Amino acid sequence: MAGEMVPKKILKVLQGECFDVPPFWFMRQAGRYLPEYRELRAEKGGFLAMAFDPKAACEITLQPIRRFQMDAAIIFSDILVVPMALGQHLEFVAGEGPKLEALADTQDLCRLSDKHFDVLDPVFEALNLTRAGLKQEGFESTALIGFAGAPWTVATYMIEGGSSKDFYKTRLWSYRDPEGFQALMDMLVETTARYLIKQVEAGAEALQIFDSWSGALDPISFEKWSIAPTKEIIARVKAVHPDVPIIGFPKGAGHNLEKYVCETGIDGVGIDQFTPLDYVSSNIQTKIPVQGNLDPFALLAGGETLDRAAKEVLDSLKGRPFIFNLGHGINKDTPPENVERLVKIIRGESV
Ligand code: CP3
Repeated sequence: MAGEMVPKKILKVLQGECFDVPPFWFMRQAGRYLPEYRELRAEKGGFLAMAFDPKAACEITLQPIRRFQMDAAIIFSDILVVPMALGQHLEFVAGEGPKLEALADTQDLCRLSDKHFDVLDPVFEALNLTRAGLKQEGFESTALIGFAGAPWTVATYMIEGGSSKDFYKTRLWSYRDPEGFQALMDMLVETTARYLIKQVEAGAEALQIFDSWSGALDPISFEKWSIAPTKEIIARVKAVHPDVPIIGFPKGAGHNLEKYVCETGIDGVGIDQFTPLDYVSSNIQTKIPVQGNLDPFALLAGGETLDRAAKEVLDSLKGRPFIFNLGHGINKDTPPENVERLVKIIRGESV
């Protein structure tokens, strides 16, 4: 006999349904603010060792769900595994973030190819294990989200060789040598679409595309390097899996947000904390389900500051399809008690 299907609120919202208590999850919900994560990290010796160990990645994905019963689990991995799948070396230096062998020009693209795609196998295995783990531990209404970085955001790391404040080399390359830059984007579109399709086949029930640095693009570049590649990825994924919902997160899009929503083909949009709530409810949420956008620093601060900020978001975005989230990833210094308090506020319980 087939088991009774438990409705997954997040998937319903992405189809346009509305709930009095909105479903919620938090970007970077698995990670350093949790003592159980830090403990496992010390044992495994680092972030990449955990991300490529399917059992460890599954365990870390489940950790926040056990504490807070979010409506979605996001697979523990990173957007920078795609450069690895193209053969670019990646390491994480403690306290400094990611380090890659920076691409200097179009010539360097010859070194890249997706013959390294197999390095991603542990991510698919982790998705498989996590889907089974959620069921086994009774989280039957929690949806599993797969993800990737958008080509522009991933390209900034590939060209700068790591994190950057101004994306100097990437922006300059995109203007000086648009054909060469387009070749890199094409490669990223191809590999990212393939990666997302395989994530669905491994158990992901929804996908998110992180364009964390789309805010560095002027409107014409935004169209070319954020909207166009994202649209192409979505078309390719939907050609194979038309029913899998895809959330786009164009952080810092500002005035380009509406265009991104209308042109990419996404099913839901992640909103950063810099976008005014009245603008979101009257111009964006009328077109598409929205996800967001509590300032992670209000969560870090906690107390009544948090209560006020969270209620503001809840009051502004209720009544139309809405998934509660943060405007960007959770800060590593956030006390887990603050997250517990936020969950109560979202559920309408007294704190
Ligand atoms: O819980 C989750 O959200 C799922 C896992 C996840 C990670 N990275 C784990 C991670 C997700 C969805 C990401 C996405 C990601 N990675 C983005 C897009 C979202 C965003 O924050 O804008 C970006 C830009 C990256 C690149 C990246 N990864 C950087 C710049 C860093 C170093 C900075 C930092 O926060 O330490 C990482 C490392 C990373 N990815 C950590 C985690 C939990 C920290 C690893 C550790 O030191 O334990």
